[in-house]
Amino acid sequence: MAKVKKAFFCRSCGFEAPKWLGKCPSCGEWNSFTEEVIARESATPSLAAAASLQRGSRPQPIREIRESDHRRIDTGNAEVNRVLGGGVVPGSLVLLGGEPGIGKSTLSLQLALAHNGLKTLYVSGEESAEQIRMRADRIGICNEQCLIYPETLLENITAQIVEEQPHVVIIDSIQTIYSESIESSAGSVSQIRECAATLLKYAKTTGTAIFIIGHITKDGTIAGPKILEHIVDVVLQFEGDANNCYRILRGIKNRFGATFEIGVFEMLDHGLRSVDNPSEILLSHYEEALSGIAVGATVDGLRPYLIEVQALVCNAAYGTPQRSTTGFDSRRMSMLLAVLEKRVGMKMFQKDVFLNFAGGFKVADTGLDLAVVAAVISSYFDRPVAEGVCCAGEIGLSGEVRPAPRTEQRISEAARLGFRRIIVSGYLAKQLKHPKSIEVVTINNIAELPKALFME
Ligand code: TYD
Ligand code: MG
Repeated sequence: MAKVKKAFFCRSCGFEAPKWLGKCPSCGEWNSFTEEVIARESATPSLAAAASLQRGSRPQPIREIRESDHRRIDTGNAEVNRVLGGGVVPGSLVLLGGEPGIGKSTLSLQLALAHNGLKTLYVSGEESAEQIRMRADRIGICNEQCLIYPETLLENITAQIVEEQPHVVIIDSIQTIYSESIESSAGSVSQIRECAATLLKYAKTTGTAIFIIGHITKDGTIAGPKILEHIVDVVLQFEGDANNCYRILRGIKNRFGATFEIGVFEMLDHGLRSVDNPSEILLSHYEEALSGIAVGATVDGLRPYLIEVQALVCNAAYGTPQRSTTGFDSRRMSMLLAVLEKRVGMKMFQKDVFLNFAGGFKVADTGLDLAVVAAVISSYFDRPVAEGVCCAGEIGLSGEVRPAPRTEQRISEAARLGFRRIIVSGYLAKQLKHPKSIEVVTINNIAELPKALFME
């Protein structure tokens, strides 16, 4: 009988240790070790097979490497292409992570069904072929080139990759796949590591682009994509508020391109729709001017868009005022409120403040400070911001308005959407070029903001 071998793995980073440890020496996480059975004796025929495929490879001078090896293929989805940096590279391993129910399976099935001339193998360990067919009917596209394969055994999957020779393989999800060479159950750290490493070898040797889907749980108890991130070439994160219909696809790591692009989608009853122009969905048109609403010009990665900020400032009923934000860092809001108190003399210590971003978006751009403050000022004085005015600027602790990164791009986006005036920092290093249709107002201090906002 084969000797049973056990080891301890860190759930957070995948570090392997022969005994249990309280704190992971690799990532510093506490109480993250679990024991798993690994039978290395009968070990890794798949790895040996993959290695034999590679035998004969030799180092070569950098000049002799052909660049065409990195030509990209169109996935048939403009937003996904954009995030990948212009298409998917053959032989790459792409990890698509996200919380359960966010739409990872929907997005990947849409990729598989897209008419892009690519043969796609969609491996599902979670849903039956009928369930996937029902989802495909819902999405309303049919593609002869798309093969559906409900399977969880890694060795069968790799055999099909070799036999069918698809251009693209989608594994939904890595947590459900297991290899016979490892004793522990599917979803354990050692299984995930082994399966990902084997898939990587197949991707590289056969030139197939492989997308693997990984779950992230809120408390992180299951070995999630964290340990996979080191293995794969590209990490994409699909995020959004499950109660809201907008989703953002973000590049977190990309060995073939930049990571600052985002893709925006809207979840409809017939699948995900690409949103080419995010500003459209994030700005509302009101019949009459309302107080507490301001528009900020933001840049996420390289992509500029305008977003509506809503604030409600009212008298605090209890001693300690309430502060609540959705989509914005609450500590940053406290800092901005303190600046308003000290530099503008507004009595924020007696006020409850609530802050909201349109569409349930999470925004980390400090260039939105000015818009946040504008919404707070508007609600505080109960005066609507003048029509067609938006802001882009960062606020410092002395109340100074600092330039937001890529201000020019923000101004162009605001002009394109028909805004009449944009308030930016007066400390910009160079003269700004901007379209004639928009007036650029520069302010140096937050105290000048109300005047610019209400167009007095
Ligand atoms: P799913 O892709 O299964 O999420 P994941 O694979 O990330 O767990 O989709 C999750 C949700 O999307 C599901 O609750 C229903 C919704 N949905 C729609 O709103 N419209 C659709 O056309 C589809 C297919 C799903
Ligand atoms: Mg799914």
